[in-house]
Amino acid sequence: MTQPTSQNMRPDIRFLFGDEERSLSGIDPQMTVLDYLRLEERKTGTKEGCAEGDCGACTVVLGEPDGDGKMAYRTVNACIQFVPTLDGKQLLTVEHLKSKVGSLHPVQQAMVETHGSQCGFCTPGFVMSLYQMWLDGGEDDRGAINDALAGNLCRCTGYGPIIEAARKAGGIAAGDAAEQKRRADIATRLTDLVKDAGTLAVEHAAGRYYAPRTSDELAALLVAHPDATVLAGGTDVGLWVTKMLKRLDPIIYIGDVADLKSVSETDTAVVIGAGVTYSRAHDALGRVASDIGELIRRIGSRQIRNAGTVGGNIANGSPIGDTPPALIALGAKIVLRMGNVRREVPLEDYFISYGKQDRTPGEFVESVIVPKPAKGLVFKAYKISKRFDQDITAVLGAFAIQIADGKVAAFRAVYGGMAGTPMRAKKCEAAVIGKEWDEATLGAAQRALADEFEPMTDMRASKEYRMLVAQNLLTKLFIETSAPDIATRLVGKEAALV
Ligand SMILES: Cc1cc2nc3c(=O)[nH]c(=O)nc-3n(C[C@H](O)[C@H](O)[C@H](O)COP(=O)(O)OP(=O)(O)OC[C@H]3O[C@@H](n4cnc5c(N)ncnc54)[C@H](O)[C@@H]3O)c2cc1C
Ligand code: FES
Ligand code: FES
Repeated sequence: MTQPTSQNMRPDIRFLFGDEERSLSGIDPQMTVLDYLRLEERKTGTKEGCAEGDCGACTVVLGEPDGDGKMAYRTVNACIQFVPTLDGKQLLTVEHLKSKVGSLHPVQQAMVETHGSQCGFCTPGFVMSLYQMWLDGGEDDRGAINDALAGNLCRCTGYGPIIEAARKAGGIAAGDAAEQKRRADIATRLTDLVKDAGTLAVEHAAGRYYAPRTSDELAALLVAHPDATVLAGGTDVGLWVTKMLKRLDPIIYIGDVADLKSVSETDTAVVIGAGVTYSRAHDALGRVASDIGELIRRIGSRQIRNAGTVGGNIANGSPIGDTPPALIALGAKIVLRMGNVRREVPLEDYFISYGKQDRTPGEFVESVIVPKPAKGLVFKAYKISKRFDQDITAVLGAFAIQIADGKVAAFRAVYGGMAGTPMRAKKCEAAVIGKEWDEATLGAAQRALADEFEPMTDMRASKEYRMLVAQNLLTKLFIETSAPDIATRLVGKEAALV
């Protein structure tokens, strides 16, 4: 084992396990939080179902100081998070819910009273999702509860009793003074734990892991290790380890880089730092266009959105990532950085071909600049997947259209799942721009699609299905922009029951 390369680096991972301080050295940086809990701590309440972020049996709660002396809590999937990412955080598992006198926590009691558990395998994961809701004050709205529980699968109870438990448990009162003090104390302890402690640098025989705290430090580390794996939320990278059994060396984690975690807004654009999770980007992007907010709400589950980033969705180059088509339709740019040199690239040019992006070793995505739609530009995005929640896209269409005097003044149509990269449908756009926005133009646009895409058949959809859906999404756009009184989307109670 080698030692950290700089005096400003430290080898030990520091976090709170419940209220107890942990300082871990000599740990394989690719060990998952789930394995750590079960094999090292011998806390087996947290279960392994799928080891790929899908089932929620491994759900734990992470607490972090929010910068205002308070704590922010979020659920994550312990099966795809690596132990060093706990540095500076509080890890809470189902074992921490028991009171000092051994009584059940209100969310556990509610599960008992509503018969929310049968075989019990999923129960600790559900309890932790309920606990996170409870910490945030509780929920009564069916849609919001569905949203919080969509990442927890149960094969026994049929969800009704668990939803009832969520309502019954309620939440901690926002003004509870004792709870506020407890949280402020934890925030202070966590801040002190890593303050002035230097960069975490785990240099283990099995692999190295660095967690810089500033983007300058990150840039320097990536220049020194151009072949490193950049780790953001780990919702892709975690699976390379748990499913593909890859060894990654070194890993450079960007989740602790303070200046990559900001969302800023000007009159014309929203800028999302590469370390911002979907959950934090949701509101700002939803204000740019409500359909982007809805797209983000449907990415994975709450646990996935609490970890995954827009930057990671772009950097991974996937043809079925949900955010790139929408961002390309809006004309987004990304800022790429290598050392101290930055360049701005239109997002559509970043994707060169399947598996190939315009990013050189040592370079990283620093931020995403999302322009606000110009006056009169209408933005729509439609994700088609087999399930509404927690499913990967088969086809995604994102459209930005401006109609003036009955004619199409501007049009961008971008598809995911139709080619080796997210791609603009330029022939389709050409068939529409300058024309009357009527059924004849719609037909021409649909025929143009057939001329420019040759989608593939895979487990998500056949090529025929993909093409038909892509064409039908244009029909949906047409109806929504020319006959807004026709209902095309589920709303209210119906939507909550999807
Ligand atoms: C259960 C589950 C459900 C999912 N559902 C969806 C879904 O509905 N829609 C969807 O689009 N995706 C989905 N995903 C995929 C994944 O969540 C997204 O692609 C996510 O945006 C990846 O972001 P991350 O921060 O977790 O990236 P990571 O896993 O940390 O990294 C992903 C890739 O990007 C690179 N990278 C990350 N950040 C940077 C950076 N700043 N600079 C350079 N390279 C970088 C990494 O090296 C890696 O190659 C799902 C994944 C899981 C496990
Ligand atoms: S074990 Fe299934 S989500 Fe983690
Ligand atoms: S109670 Fe059996 S899987 Fe949920």
